[in-house]
Formats: sequence, C-alpha cells, structure tokens
Amino acid sequence: MYLSRIAAAVALCGLLAHTAHAAPADQAKPADPESIERGHYLVKITGCNDCHTAGYTQTDGQTPEKDWLTGDLLGWQGPWGTTYASNLRLYMQEITEDQWVGIAHNARFRPPMPWYSLHAMSETDLRAIYRFIHSLGPAGTLAPTYLPPGQVPQGPRVTFPEPQ
Ligand code: HEC
Repeated sequence: MYLSRIAAAVALCGLLAHTAHAAPADQAKPADPESIERGHYLVKITGCNDCHTAGYTQTDGQTPEKDWLTGDLLGWQGPWGTTYASNLRLYMQEITEDQWVGIAHNARFRPPMPWYSLHAMSETDLRAIYRFIHSLGPAGTLAPTYLPPGQVPQGPRVTFPEPQ
C-alpha cells in the first residue's frame, strides 16, 4: 500500500519534472546561500536528525554536521514491520529539487516517519531543506532494507506495541 503511494508520487514527480523541463524559467536555479542556511535551520528544528542521524539524540545533538542524515541501523519495529531511517545524504543526490517537492507533498512513508509534517511544509521550506542536504554532498552507506511484518530484525531496534 505504501509502495504504491510512493510509486504514484514518483510518477507525479516525473510529470512535474517534465513540466519544469518544458518551461526553462522553472528550471532549478543555482542554490543560494540564504536558502541553504534556512534549510540548515529547518533541519535542525524539525527533528530530521533525531532519526536520520545515528547517535544524534544520545549526544545531545552534538554529531558533527558532516555526519548528519546518513541514516541509522536502528530498526523501528511495529505492526508495519521494521523500518530504518534512510540515508538522506544519498537520497537527495538521486532526485531533483522538483521531484523532492512532489514526493514530500504526496508520499506516505511508514511509521515512525512523520510524512504528514512534510505534507504541511511550504514549497519554499522544502526547497531550502533539499538545498541544504544536497549541499552537504553524499556520505555514508544505505540504511538496512525495510522488513515486512513477521520478519525478525537483526541488530538494535525499538519495538512499538500492537494497537489496543
Ligand atoms: C521519528 C523518526 C523520524 C523523523 C523525526 C524523521 N524521519 Fe524520515 N524516516 C524515518 C523512517 C523510519 C523512514 C523509513 C520509512 C519507510 O521505510 O517507509 C524515513 C524515511 C524518510 C524518507 C524516505 C526516504 C526513502 O529512502 O524513500 C524521507 C525523504 C525522509 N524520511 C525525510 C525526513 C525529513 C526531511 C525529516 C525531517 C523533517 C524526517 N525524515 C524526520 C524516520 C524519521
């Protein structure tokens, strides 16, 4: 169910990207420092590091910026299976800024990813977040693959109770 929604969002993004291509005025502009700084601020206050940066909460947010958002081996296990916070440093290199806006406004990820917070963000803020993460460059390796319900994760995990 989640995957088909993501696929729909990606298809939509393809459409958006195509539209952008047809209209040169809408093409991605070179990232400006002010927007990158805004993205830095937004990432810091909206909690992306809490899950997408290993050890961030345990070190009171002291993880050096060069290691931010490289994903985590910690599994989030619940009725949805086991999810792992993705490596956003690699992820943002794989998609365009316009694709990101489409995904962020339409995709529904599995818990505990707060996709509804992304839906609520303004396009300007989403572009700023993209520009900041993209400007950090690629780093780290891919997070472990999602496990469907019933598969036992290896490694550390947080287990959520079944809904009452
Ligand atoms: C409470 C933990 C948590 C927080 C906070 C969080 N995420 Fe996530 N995020 C996850 C998990 C877990 C996944 C994997 C979800 C899945 O498998 O469907 C994920 C997935 C994603 C994905 C999908 C990447 C892919 O590989 O498809 C994006 C994009 C993302 N998060 C961006 C963000 C951004 C931007 C923020 C900050 C605004 C953020 N996340 C905050 C836990 C979190």
